[in-house]
Amino acid sequence: MTILITGAAGFIGANFVLDWLAQTQETVVNLDKLTYAGNLETLASVQGDARHIFVQGDIGDSALVARLLAQHRPRAVINFAAESHVDRSIHSPDDFIQTNIVGTFRLLEAVRGYWGNLPADDKAAFRLLHVSTDEVYGSLAAGDAAFTEQHRYEPNSPYSASKAASDHLVRAYHHTYGLPVLTTNCSNNYGPYHFPEKLIPLMIVNALAGKPLPVYGDGMQIRDWLYVKDHCSAIRRVLEAGQLGEVYNIGGWNEKPNIEIVHTVCALLDELRPKADGSSYRTQISYVKDRPGHDRRYAIDASKIERELGWKPFETFETGIRKTVQWYLANPEWVVNVQSGAYRDWVQTQYASTAEA
Ligand code: NAD
Ligand code: DAU
Repeated sequence: MTILITGAAGFIGANFVLDWLAQTQETVVNLDKLTYAGNLETLASVQGDARHIFVQGDIGDSALVARLLAQHRPRAVINFAAESHVDRSIHSPDDFIQTNIVGTFRLLEAVRGYWGNLPADDKAAFRLLHVSTDEVYGSLAAGDAAFTEQHRYEPNSPYSASKAASDHLVRAYHHTYGLPVLTTNCSNNYGPYHFPEKLIPLMIVNALAGKPLPVYGDGMQIRDWLYVKDHCSAIRRVLEAGQLGEVYNIGGWNEKPNIEIVHTVCALLDELRPKADGSSYRTQISYVKDRPGHDRRYAIDASKIERELGWKPFETFETGIRKTVQWYLANPEWVVNVQSGAYRDWVQTQYASTAEA
Protein backbone atom coordinates (compact mmCIF):
# COMPACT_ATOMS: atom_id res chain seq x y z
CA MET A 1 0.00 0.00 0.00
CA THR A 2 1.17 3.50 -0.82
CA ILE A 3 0.08 7.05 -0.09
CA LEU A 4 1.08 10.17 -2.01
CA ILE A 5 1.83 13.18 0.18
CA THR A 6 2.42 16.63 -1.27
CA GLY A 7 4.50 19.31 0.44
CA ALA A 8 6.10 16.79 2.79
CA ALA A 9 9.48 18.52 2.92
CA GLY A 10 7.81 21.38 4.80
CA PHE A 11 7.16 21.72 8.51
CA ILE A 12 3.96 19.72 9.03
CA GLY A 13 4.30 17.37 6.06
CA ALA A 14 7.80 16.28 7.11
CA ASN A 15 6.67 15.69 10.70
CA PHE A 16 3.80 13.67 9.24
CA VAL A 17 6.14 11.50 7.14
CA LEU A 18 8.49 10.87 10.07
CA ASP A 19 5.57 9.78 12.27
CA TRP A 20 3.96 7.75 9.47
CA LEU A 21 7.11 5.76 8.73
CA ALA A 22 7.65 5.17 12.45
CA GLN A 23 4.14 3.77 12.82
CA THR A 24 3.23 1.94 9.59
CA GLN A 25 4.84 -0.17 6.90
CA GLU A 26 3.12 1.76 4.12
CA THR A 27 5.23 3.49 1.47
CA VAL A 28 5.09 7.27 1.11
CA VAL A 29 5.62 9.09 -2.17
CA ASN A 30 6.60 12.64 -1.24
CA LEU A 31 6.00 15.24 -3.97
CA ASP A 32 7.50 18.60 -3.02
CA LYS A 33 8.65 21.53 -5.09
CA LEU A 34 11.36 22.41 -2.54
CA THR A 35 10.55 26.10 -2.29
CA TYR A 36 12.43 28.08 0.37
CA ALA A 37 10.18 26.28 2.92
CA GLY A 38 10.99 22.76 1.79
CA ASN A 39 13.98 21.19 3.46
CA LEU A 40 15.14 17.64 2.80
CA GLU A 41 17.46 17.82 5.80
CA THR A 42 14.37 17.39 7.97
CA LEU A 43 13.91 13.99 6.33
CA ALA A 44 17.57 12.95 6.59
CA SER A 45 16.71 10.10 8.97
CA VAL A 46 14.48 8.43 6.33
CA GLN A 47 16.74 8.98 3.35
CA GLY A 48 17.69 5.51 2.20
CA ASP A 49 14.47 4.04 3.63
CA ALA A 50 12.82 2.29 0.66
CA ARG A 51 9.41 3.27 2.04
CA HIS A 52 10.13 6.99 1.39
CA ILE A 53 10.22 7.99 -2.27
CA PHE A 54 11.01 11.67 -2.77
CA VAL A 55 10.10 13.43 -6.02
CA GLN A 56 10.90 17.09 -6.56
CA GLY A 57 8.03 18.71 -8.45
CA ASP A 58 5.02 20.97 -8.48
CA ILE A 59 1.44 19.95 -7.60
CA GLY A 60 0.47 22.16 -10.55
CA ASP A 61 2.41 19.93 -12.98
CA SER A 62 -0.51 17.79 -14.16
CA ALA A 63 1.61 15.46 -16.28
CA LEU A 64 3.97 14.74 -13.40
CA VAL A 65 1.16 14.15 -10.90
CA ALA A 66 -0.70 11.88 -13.36
CA ARG A 67 2.48 9.91 -13.95
CA LEU A 68 3.14 9.48 -10.22
CA LEU A 69 -0.43 8.35 -9.61
CA ALA A 70 -0.29 5.82 -12.47
CA GLN A 71 3.12 4.53 -11.39
CA HIS A 72 2.58 4.24 -7.63
CA ARG A 73 -1.21 3.68 -7.49
CA PRO A 74 -1.70 5.26 -4.04
CA ARG A 75 -4.75 4.45 -1.94
CA ALA A 76 -4.80 8.07 -0.73
CA VAL A 77 -3.39 11.52 -1.43
CA ILE A 78 -2.74 14.02 1.36
CA ASN A 79 -2.28 17.59 0.18
CA PHE A 80 -0.01 19.65 2.46
CA ALA A 81 1.65 21.60 -0.37
CA ALA A 82 1.03 25.32 -0.07
CA GLU A 83 2.58 28.70 0.35
CA SER A 84 1.91 29.10 4.06
CA HIS A 85 3.28 32.38 5.46
CA VAL A 86 0.80 35.25 5.87
CA ASP A 87 3.47 37.99 5.82
CA ARG A 88 4.90 36.69 2.55
CA SER A 89 1.37 36.65 1.07
CA ILE A 90 1.09 40.36 1.92
CA HIS A 91 4.41 41.20 0.24
CA SER A 92 3.86 39.03 -2.86
CA PRO A 93 0.59 37.14 -3.24
CA ASP A 94 1.35 35.69 -6.68
CA ASP A 95 2.89 32.40 -5.55
CA PHE A 96 -0.08 31.88 -3.19
CA ILE A 97 -2.54 32.11 -6.06
CA GLN A 98 -0.44 29.80 -8.22
CA THR A 99 0.18 27.05 -5.69
CA ASN A 100 -2.77 27.24 -3.33
CA ILE A 101 -5.48 27.83 -5.94
CA VAL A 102 -4.20 26.82 -9.39
CA GLY A 103 -1.99 24.06 -7.97
CA THR A 104 -4.82 22.57 -5.91
CA PHE A 105 -7.10 22.71 -8.95
CA ARG A 106 -4.56 20.87 -11.12
CA LEU A 107 -3.99 18.31 -8.38
CA LEU A 108 -7.74 17.73 -8.10
CA GLU A 109 -8.01 17.23 -11.85
CA ALA A 110 -5.16 14.71 -11.91
CA VAL A 111 -6.60 12.85 -8.93
CA ARG A 112 -10.07 12.82 -10.49
CA GLY A 113 -8.66 11.25 -13.65
CA TYR A 114 -6.81 8.58 -11.67
CA TRP A 115 -9.66 7.83 -9.27
CA GLY A 116 -12.23 7.62 -12.08
CA ASN A 117 -10.32 4.73 -13.68
CA LEU A 118 -9.68 2.68 -10.54
CA PRO A 119 -11.29 -0.75 -10.15
CA ALA A 120 -14.49 -0.56 -8.06
CA ASP A 121 -12.98 -1.69 -4.73
CA ASP A 122 -9.98 0.63 -4.99
CA LYS A 123 -12.25 3.45 -6.07
CA ALA A 124 -14.44 2.98 -3.02
CA ALA A 125 -11.45 2.91 -0.67
CA PHE A 126 -9.61 5.92 -2.18
CA ARG A 127 -9.34 9.22 -0.24
CA LEU A 128 -8.03 12.72 -0.96
CA LEU A 129 -7.32 14.58 2.27
CA HIS A 130 -6.85 18.34 1.91
CA VAL A 131 -4.99 20.04 4.76
CA SER A 132 -6.29 23.53 5.44
CA THR A 133 -6.34 26.22 8.07
CA ASP A 134 -8.59 27.97 10.59
CA GLU A 135 -7.64 31.30 8.95
CA VAL A 136 -10.31 30.73 6.28
CA TYR A 137 -12.92 31.58 8.92
CA GLY A 138 -11.57 35.10 9.48
CA SER A 139 -11.11 36.84 12.80
CA LEU A 140 -13.05 36.52 16.06
CA ALA A 141 -13.82 39.28 18.55
CA ALA A 142 -13.15 38.67 22.25
CA GLY A 143 -16.06 36.65 23.61
CA ASP A 144 -17.16 35.20 20.23
CA ALA A 145 -17.69 31.44 20.17
CA ALA A 146 -14.80 29.43 18.66
CA PHE A 147 -14.93 28.44 14.97
CA THR A 148 -17.07 25.40 14.25
CA GLU A 149 -17.17 23.69 10.84
CA GLN A 150 -20.35 25.72 10.13
CA HIS A 151 -18.65 29.09 10.59
CA ARG A 152 -18.87 31.13 7.39
CA TYR A 153 -15.72 31.73 5.37
CA GLU A 154 -14.34 35.26 5.84
CA PRO A 155 -10.65 35.08 4.83
CA ASN A 156 -8.75 38.33 5.36
CA SER A 157 -5.26 37.86 3.91
CA PRO A 158 -4.13 36.76 0.46
CA TYR A 159 -2.91 33.56 2.16
CA SER A 160 -6.22 32.74 3.82
CA ALA A 161 -8.20 33.75 0.73
CA SER A 162 -6.11 31.38 -1.38
CA LYS A 163 -6.60 28.54 1.13
CA ALA A 164 -10.35 29.30 1.23
CA ALA A 165 -10.46 29.04 -2.57
CA SER A 166 -8.69 25.68 -2.42
CA ASP A 167 -11.18 24.42 0.20
CA HIS A 168 -14.08 25.45 -2.04
CA LEU A 169 -12.55 23.61 -5.01
CA VAL A 170 -12.12 20.47 -2.92
CA ARG A 171 -15.71 20.72 -1.74
CA ALA A 172 -16.96 21.26 -5.31
CA TYR A 173 -15.07 18.20 -6.61
CA HIS A 174 -16.90 16.09 -4.05
CA HIS A 175 -20.28 17.64 -4.73
CA THR A 176 -19.97 17.62 -8.53
CA TYR A 177 -17.85 14.56 -9.33
CA GLY A 178 -18.24 12.50 -6.17
CA LEU A 179 -14.47 12.66 -5.51
CA PRO A 180 -13.94 11.08 -2.05
CA VAL A 181 -12.48 14.04 -0.20
CA LEU A 182 -11.84 15.00 3.42
CA THR A 183 -10.86 18.50 4.56
CA THR A 184 -9.19 19.49 7.81
CA ASN A 185 -8.97 23.07 9.13
CA CYS A 186 -6.33 23.35 11.81
CA SER A 187 -5.13 26.08 14.14
CA ASN A 188 -1.52 27.30 14.58
CA ASN A 189 1.04 24.50 14.78
CA TYR A 190 4.38 24.60 16.56
CA GLY A 191 7.13 22.05 17.18
CA PRO A 192 10.35 20.66 15.69
CA TYR A 193 11.46 21.63 12.16
CA HIS A 194 9.33 24.81 12.10
CA PHE A 195 10.82 27.32 9.66
CA PRO A 196 12.11 30.33 11.65
CA GLU A 197 9.96 32.89 9.83
CA LYS A 198 6.93 31.94 12.01
CA LEU A 199 6.40 33.37 15.49
CA ILE A 200 7.66 30.65 17.84
CA PRO A 201 10.80 29.48 16.01
CA LEU A 202 11.68 33.08 15.07
CA MET A 203 11.55 34.09 18.72
CA ILE A 204 13.74 31.16 19.80
CA VAL A 205 16.31 31.71 17.05
CA ASN A 206 16.45 35.51 17.48
CA ALA A 207 16.66 35.23 21.27
CA LEU A 208 19.64 32.88 21.06
CA ALA A 209 21.32 35.14 18.50
CA GLY A 210 20.92 38.18 20.77
CA LYS A 211 18.59 39.84 18.23
CA PRO A 212 15.34 41.79 18.84
CA LEU A 213 12.14 39.76 19.34
CA PRO A 214 9.71 41.59 17.02
CA VAL A 215 6.15 41.64 18.41
CA TYR A 216 3.57 43.04 15.97
CA GLY A 217 1.28 45.81 17.22
CA ASP A 218 0.22 45.42 20.86
CA GLY A 219 1.02 41.69 20.99
CA MET A 220 -2.50 40.92 22.18
CA GLN A 221 -3.58 38.99 19.05
CA ILE A 222 -4.72 35.52 20.01
CA ARG A 223 -3.83 32.24 18.30
CA ASP A 224 -4.87 28.69 19.26
CA TRP A 225 -1.71 26.55 19.43
CA LEU A 226 -1.38 22.84 18.64
CA TYR A 227 1.76 20.72 18.86
CA VAL A 228 2.58 19.52 15.34
CA LYS A 229 2.59 15.81 16.25
CA ASP A 230 -0.99 16.20 17.49
CA HIS A 231 -1.97 17.70 14.13
CA CYS A 232 -0.35 14.68 12.44
CA SER A 233 -2.26 12.22 14.62
CA ALA A 234 -5.52 14.04 13.85
CA ILE A 235 -4.85 13.81 10.10
CA ARG A 236 -4.12 10.08 10.41
CA ARG A 237 -7.40 9.65 12.29
CA VAL A 238 -9.43 11.63 9.73
CA LEU A 239 -7.86 9.64 6.89
CA GLU A 240 -8.73 6.41 8.65
CA ALA A 241 -12.28 7.16 9.80
CA GLY A 242 -13.49 10.53 8.46
CA GLN A 243 -16.81 10.66 6.63
CA LEU A 244 -16.52 11.44 2.92
CA GLY A 245 -17.05 15.08 2.02
CA GLU A 246 -16.85 16.15 5.67
CA VAL A 247 -14.78 18.93 7.20
CA TYR A 248 -13.00 18.49 10.55
CA ASN A 249 -11.67 21.35 12.63
CA ILE A 250 -8.47 20.51 14.51
CA GLY A 251 -7.21 22.53 17.46
CA GLY A 252 -5.54 22.35 20.82
CA TRP A 253 -7.94 24.33 23.02
CA ASN A 254 -4.93 26.55 23.69
CA GLU A 255 -5.79 30.18 23.02
CA LYS A 256 -2.97 32.51 23.97
CA PRO A 257 -2.03 36.13 23.21
CA ASN A 258 1.22 36.44 21.25
CA ILE A 259 2.98 38.33 24.01
CA GLU A 260 2.30 35.47 26.43
CA ILE A 261 3.85 33.05 23.92
CA VAL A 262 6.93 35.25 23.68
CA HIS A 263 7.19 35.51 27.47
CA THR A 264 6.91 31.72 27.77
CA VAL A 265 9.68 31.19 25.20
CA CYS A 266 11.88 33.70 27.06
CA ALA A 267 11.22 32.02 30.42
CA LEU A 268 12.13 28.59 29.04
CA LEU A 269 15.33 29.94 27.50
CA ASP A 270 16.18 31.74 30.75
CA GLU A 271 15.89 28.37 32.48
CA LEU A 272 17.50 26.11 29.86
CA ARG A 273 20.14 28.45 28.35
CA PRO A 274 20.62 31.38 30.77
CA LYS A 275 22.39 34.44 29.39
CA ALA A 276 25.93 35.01 30.58
CA ASP A 277 25.11 38.48 31.95
CA GLY A 278 22.19 37.10 33.99
CA SER A 279 19.58 39.24 32.18
CA SER A 280 16.34 37.77 30.81
CA TYR A 281 15.73 37.18 27.12
CA ARG A 282 12.62 39.34 27.69
CA THR A 283 14.83 42.42 27.47
CA GLN A 284 15.15 41.67 23.71
CA ILE A 285 11.38 42.13 23.10
CA SER A 286 10.73 44.93 20.62
CA TYR A 287 7.24 46.10 19.62
CA VAL A 288 7.12 46.76 15.86
CA LYS A 289 4.58 47.97 13.30
CA ASP A 290 1.54 45.71 13.04
CA ARG A 291 0.84 43.28 10.20
CA PRO A 292 -1.62 44.90 7.72
CA GLY A 293 -5.13 43.46 8.18
CA HIS A 294 -3.90 41.45 11.18
CA ASP A 295 -6.56 38.97 12.38
CA ARG A 296 -7.20 39.61 16.06
CA ARG A 297 -8.21 36.20 17.31
CA TYR A 298 -8.51 32.58 16.15
CA ALA A 299 -10.04 29.82 18.22
CA ILE A 300 -10.99 26.33 17.07
CA ASP A 301 -13.92 24.35 18.40
CA ALA A 302 -12.54 20.83 18.00
CA SER A 303 -15.54 19.03 19.47
CA LYS A 304 -16.63 17.38 16.19
CA ILE A 305 -13.38 15.45 15.67
CA GLU A 306 -13.35 14.52 19.35
CA ARG A 307 -17.00 13.40 19.39
CA GLU A 308 -17.11 11.60 16.01
CA LEU A 309 -13.56 10.27 15.66
CA GLY A 310 -12.37 10.12 19.26
CA TRP A 311 -9.32 12.34 18.61
CA LYS A 312 -7.81 14.55 21.30
CA PRO A 313 -4.43 16.31 21.49
CA PHE A 314 -1.79 14.49 23.53
CA GLU A 315 0.37 17.48 24.48
CA THR A 316 -0.62 20.42 26.63
CA PHE A 317 0.87 23.76 25.62
CA GLU A 318 3.26 23.55 28.57
CA THR A 319 4.66 20.15 27.55
CA GLY A 320 4.71 20.97 23.82
CA ILE A 321 6.47 24.31 24.10
CA ARG A 322 9.13 22.86 26.42
CA LYS A 323 9.81 20.05 23.92
CA THR A 324 9.98 22.61 21.13
CA VAL A 325 12.49 24.90 22.86
CA GLN A 326 14.56 21.85 23.84
CA TRP A 327 14.52 20.66 20.21
CA TYR A 328 15.83 24.01 18.92
CA LEU A 329 18.55 24.04 21.57
CA ALA A 330 19.60 20.52 20.57
CA ASN A 331 19.55 21.15 16.81
CA PRO A 332 21.52 24.32 16.05
CA GLU A 333 22.88 22.88 12.76
CA TRP A 334 19.36 22.46 11.34
CA VAL A 335 18.67 26.11 12.16
CA VAL A 336 21.93 27.34 10.62
CA ASN A 337 21.31 25.34 7.45
CA VAL A 338 17.77 26.66 6.86
CA GLN A 339 19.00 30.21 7.30
CA SER A 340 20.21 30.37 3.72
CA GLY A 341 20.72 33.47 1.60
CA ALA A 342 17.02 33.45 0.67
CA TYR A 343 16.03 33.37 4.35
CA ARG A 344 18.28 36.32 5.14
CA ASP A 345 16.82 38.33 2.25
CA TRP A 346 13.30 37.69 3.59
CA VAL A 347 14.14 38.74 7.14
CA GLN A 348 15.70 41.94 5.84
CA THR A 349 12.66 42.81 3.68
CA GLN A 350 10.04 41.99 6.30
CA TYR A 351 11.60 43.53 9.40
CA ALA A 352 12.87 46.66 7.61
CA SER A 353 9.22 47.39 6.71
CA THR A 354 7.94 46.84 10.28
CA ALA A 355 10.70 48.90 11.89
CA GLU A 356 8.83 51.49 13.94
CA ALA A 357 6.58 50.57 16.88
P1 NAD B 1 5.47 24.98 4.96
O1 NAD B 1 5.50 26.31 4.28
O2 NAD B 1 6.43 24.70 6.05
O3 NAD B 1 5.68 23.82 3.87
C1 NAD B 1 5.05 23.83 2.63
C2 NAD B 1 5.72 22.79 1.74
O4 NAD B 1 5.03 22.78 0.48
C3 NAD B 1 7.18 23.09 1.45
O5 NAD B 1 7.95 21.91 1.59
C4 NAD B 1 7.18 23.56 0.00
O6 NAD B 1 8.38 23.26 -0.69
C5 NAD B 1 6.01 22.78 -0.57
N1 NAD B 1 5.41 23.42 -1.75
C6 NAD B 1 5.10 24.73 -1.91
N2 NAD B 1 4.57 24.93 -3.13
C7 NAD B 1 4.52 23.72 -3.73
C8 NAD B 1 4.06 23.27 -4.99
N3 NAD B 1 3.54 24.13 -5.89
N4 NAD B 1 4.15 21.96 -5.28
C9 NAD B 1 4.68 21.09 -4.40
N5 NAD B 1 5.14 21.46 -3.19
C10 NAD B 1 5.07 22.75 -2.87
O7 NAD B 1 3.98 24.78 5.42
P2 NAD B 1 3.40 24.02 6.69
O8 NAD B 1 3.39 24.94 7.85
O9 NAD B 1 4.06 22.70 6.80
O10 NAD B 1 1.88 23.83 6.24
C11 NAD B 1 1.48 22.67 5.51
C12 NAD B 1 0.00 22.79 5.18
O11 NAD B 1 -0.74 22.93 6.38
C13 NAD B 1 -0.35 24.03 4.35
O12 NAD B 1 -1.35 23.66 3.43
C14 NAD B 1 -0.89 25.03 5.36
O13 NAD B 1 -1.83 25.90 4.75
C15 NAD B 1 -1.55 24.10 6.33
N6 NAD B 1 -1.64 24.59 7.74
C16 NAD B 1 -0.52 25.06 8.37
C17 NAD B 1 -0.62 25.45 9.70
C18 NAD B 1 0.59 25.96 10.47
O14 NAD B 1 0.43 26.43 11.61
N7 NAD B 1 1.80 25.87 9.94
C19 NAD B 1 -1.85 25.37 10.37
C20 NAD B 1 -2.96 24.90 9.68
C21 NAD B 1 -2.84 24.49 8.35
O1 DAU C 1 -3.89 29.58 12.07
C1 DAU C 1 -3.18 28.69 11.23
C2 DAU C 1 -2.10 29.44 10.50
O2 DAU C 1 -1.08 29.72 11.44
C3 DAU C 1 -1.55 28.68 9.31
O3 DAU C 1 -2.57 28.51 8.36
C4 DAU C 1 -0.38 29.46 8.68
O4 DAU C 1 0.19 28.69 7.64
C5 DAU C 1 0.66 29.68 9.76
O5 DAU C 1 1.73 30.44 9.24
C6 DAU C 1 0.04 30.41 10.95
O6 DAU C 1 -0.34 31.75 10.59
P1 DAU C 1 -0.09 32.99 11.58
O7 DAU C 1 -0.07 34.22 10.78
O8 DAU C 1 -1.01 32.93 12.74
O9 DAU C 1 1.38 32.57 12.11
P2 DAU C 1 2.70 33.44 12.38
O10 DAU C 1 3.65 32.54 13.09
O11 DAU C 1 3.17 34.14 11.17
O12 DAU C 1 2.19 34.54 13.42
C7 DAU C 1 1.59 34.15 14.64
C8 DAU C 1 1.19 35.44 15.35
O13 DAU C 1 2.38 36.13 15.76
C9 DAU C 1 0.43 36.41 14.47
O14 DAU C 1 -0.55 37.08 15.26
C10 DAU C 1 1.49 37.40 14.01
C11 DAU C 1 2.46 37.42 15.17
N1 DAU C 1 3.88 37.67 14.83
C12 DAU C 1 4.46 36.90 13.86
C13 DAU C 1 5.78 37.11 13.50
C14 DAU C 1 6.42 36.26 12.42
C15 DAU C 1 4.62 38.65 15.51
O15 DAU C 1 4.09 39.33 16.41
N2 DAU C 1 5.93 38.83 15.16
C16 DAU C 1 6.54 38.11 14.17
O16 DAU C 1 7.74 38.36 13.88
